[in-house]
Amino acid sequence: MTSSNDPIIRFKNVVKRYPGAPTPALDVAEFTINRGEFFSILGPSGSGKTTALRLIAGFEQADGGQIFVGDQDVTDVPPYRRDINTVFQSYALFPHMSLRDNVTYPLRMAGVDKGSIRKRVDEALEMVAMEKMADRFPHQVSGGQRQRVALARAFVGRPKVLLLDEPLSALDLNLRQQMQHVLVDLQRKIGITFVYVTHDQGEALSMSNRVAIVSGGKIQQLDTPNAIYYEPNSRFVAQFIGKSNLVQAHVAGAASADVDPVATVCGERFALPAAKQSGPINLAVRFESLAVTKPDEPAPHQVRLMGKVSDVLFLGHTCEVKVKCQDQEFIAFAPARRDAILSHGQDVCVSFNPNDCAVFND
Ligand SMILES: Nc1ncnc2c1ncn2[C@@H]1O[C@H](COP(=O)(O)OP(=O)(O)O)[C@@H](O)[C@H]1O
Ligand SMILES: [Mg+2]
Repeated sequence: MTSSNDPIIRFKNVVKRYPGAPTPALDVAEFTINRGEFFSILGPSGSGKTTALRLIAGFEQADGGQIFVGDQDVTDVPPYRRDINTVFQSYALFPHMSLRDNVTYPLRMAGVDKGSIRKRVDEALEMVAMEKMADRFPHQVSGGQRQRVALARAFVGRPKVLLLDEPLSALDLNLRQQMQHVLVDLQRKIGITFVYVTHDQGEALSMSNRVAIVSGGKIQQLDTPNAIYYEPNSRFVAQFIGKSNLVQAHVAGAASADVDPVATVCGERFALPAAKQSGPINLAVRFESLAVTKPDEPAPHQVRLMGKVSDVLFLGHTCEVKVKCQDQEFIAFAPARRDAILSHGQDVCVSFNPNDCAVFND
């Protein structure tokens, strides 16, 4: 994964409003995608992801602000002159053309000389491992294979930027995971900037250099997958990414510089250096940061709360265990074992480390 601090796409005060809508579909003050980056836009349905891509591609006009590709303000540049290509969810290959002809098509349209067309098409098909099926027609290959050819057709003309709008959502889970590897590998090889739109956090976190989380047309957080996962900047991001408990806590002494603030959860008190103000707060604690142990076993983490198991959900590779401690409910991932050790109504200890919590004042 190569990426530099060399901006290739830049939004400046971009606002897009559809007629009749009470709020803008997209409202972004400043936002940069770097050359060679695998960049993802992740958000729930209706959050403005496709709108962002269509603005970059030039299929939509912003109501205000500017969009740059490299140094050029492209706000008034039509789509076909932006050197940007798009892969959609529905791969829309030409059904009456062989796969090879599908990939050849954009080069023929661009007037590339015949001598180099063959070589570039072969190369592109090889990169998506479709060279052996090149003479088949779209209906003679699987959905995943069609999507790979659609990719080849999109990058064969070597655009500066490739936009991908939920390109895997029509595929089944196994194929989607295979395709994630194909995409990451491909992006590394061809070095084109990828802007990838998805509502699937697994895809965004696993493939990207950086991720922008959008909701309600606004960027909520823009950072590396690691930072987004471990340092969510809001309750929204903490709850949207991964699985988190939102725990009510009370903080005392946050204003003092000499001693750490002390938080209380279900009557248990512990130092919480991350707390910035006294009073009621929310702690986001991930399911995997909570340990559930029997009362007579040593609990692995510092903060220990006694409770009762209220539900166990068997998920195969893990169990989700719901535990009621006083008036709060906690959900923890627990290792799934054939001889399930936790059952409904059982007394248990829930423990966690204060450093594994994100603190929110709202
Ligand atoms: N052509 C359109 N006309 C009117 N409203 C639209 C149009 N396209 C999208 N919207 C609205 O704009 C918002 C963002 O849509 P979109 O960018 O497609 O979201 P996403 O791709 O994240 O699902 C949604 O509320 C959607 O209903
Ligand atoms: Mg969309």
